[in-house]
Amino acid sequence: MNIMNVDYSTKIPNNVNLSEDRQVLKALEGWHPGYIDWWNDMGPDGFQQSLVYLRTAYSVDPRGWAKFDYVKMPDYRWGILLAPQEENRVIPFGENYGEPAWQEVPGEHRAMLRRLIVIQGDTEPASVEQQRHLGKTAPSLYDLRNLFQVNVEEGRHLWAMVYLLQKYFGRDGREEADELLRRRSGDADSPRMLGAFNEATPDWLSFFMFTYFTDRDGKMQLHSLAQSGFDPLSRTCRFMLTEEAHHMFVGETGISRVVQRTCEAMKEAGITDPTDIAKVRALGVIDLPTIQKKLHLHYSLSLDLFGSEVSTNAANAFNAGIKGRYKETQIDDDHQLKNATYPVLRLKDGAIVQEEVPALSALNMRLRDDFVGDANAGVTRWNRVLERAGLQFRLRLPHVAFNRRIGEFAAIRADTDGRPMSGERWQADRETMLPSADDNRFIQSLMQPVHAPGGFASWIAPPRIGIDNKPGDFEYVKIEA
Ligand SMILES: [Fe+2]
Ligand SMILES: [Fe+2]
Repeated sequence: MNIMNVDYSTKIPNNVNLSEDRQVLKALEGWHPGYIDWWNDMGPDGFQQSLVYLRTAYSVDPRGWAKFDYVKMPDYRWGILLAPQEENRVIPFGENYGEPAWQEVPGEHRAMLRRLIVIQGDTEPASVEQQRHLGKTAPSLYDLRNLFQVNVEEGRHLWAMVYLLQKYFGRDGREEADELLRRRSGDADSPRMLGAFNEATPDWLSFFMFTYFTDRDGKMQLHSLAQSGFDPLSRTCRFMLTEEAHHMFVGETGISRVVQRTCEAMKEAGITDPTDIAKVRALGVIDLPTIQKKLHLHYSLSLDLFGSEVSTNAANAFNAGIKGRYKETQIDDDHQLKNATYPVLRLKDGAIVQEEVPALSALNMRLRDDFVGDANAGVTRWNRVLERAGLQFRLRLPHVAFNRRIGEFAAIRADTDGRPMSGERWQADRETMLPSADDNRFIQSLMQPVHAPGGFASWIAPPRIGIDNKPGDFEYVKIEA
């Protein structure tokens, strides 16, 4: 079969020749009903019978891989798609640097590999669960469609990880695949594996922040797994990254449109002081300081996903050739980090200091630094909206020590500039840095659904261009199908 094109003749669309891989096909078909049950129970609340203008992958050719059409979400063709195999690919880093990439799981790294695949897999359904109530308050049909696109693709990413587990990890792989459907975001007894994926996504500003920051953590993780010496994992992640770009687009443009609408409303009303919160809110838009607080929250939660700055697990995964660095093949060094060091921010006697540590143990820190750089690009673009509106206010990323629960700074309280502060000070100032109950109530009050084609809620500007170049009044979701 042609690897570029996806076989849609089978129940599970794929480009991995499933029809000739009876055992795996059977395992996946056995898993499928449980997945559909999960989707019905924990996927989008409502709209399951609506026709949604969604893209589906029909190829893995980067020049054109998606087809748009109206689909009912439960009928979405979740498939198994791997990027084409690169001929003569070698392991691009670690102790086995330069050796042929593995097509089977290397026995000595089996447990580590399985764990990384399970952790990645767990985040995919988690975000669908976190976002399941948002359909009810979508600010437009355009946004509703984008939410559902992200949701079905996270569902597909779960399939991608389950395929690897079932194909390469035998019985324990099948057990892990079942567990992925059993854990639930925020559940007291069986929560999702990572903290940020157990937090609520109560409103659309949170959704945009989540897709901007937390999906971007996903991007960084997928990039480092795309470097993996285990070739099927690398190929899986490479194709997932193609889809992931849209999720971050939704976040970046979403926040940009919120900022723009606030600026416009302030201008129309002649308000020049962004901190005049009551006046701004009276216009039915979200004031800029509250947007900044939401940013503080989601950014700090996302930083926790990178784990401890100094980590032997990360070093082991790199040495083993399992998980590389962001853009590993473009880095000009020995790809083994034999004598290299890397600067890490650490806590020493209550103060934050920079310290050189062996680069091998600082891989989480390095990936987090790459994330911060990547995340900053969008902040710069949001600030251009503010600049064009003639406002002095600027959004910014807080210091990495702010509001952390994992790593070096979990032990202290620090303000958004990274200045350590006492517990009492933190409690007293908390609501100036993170969304207060009152802020959340206000945002919640704005979350009224808009279902008229071309209509938008008061607090968000329309997008500059439609999905698939559709006109502004396009009916992205036919709610009454
Ligand atoms: Fe994903
Ligand atoms: Fe995503």
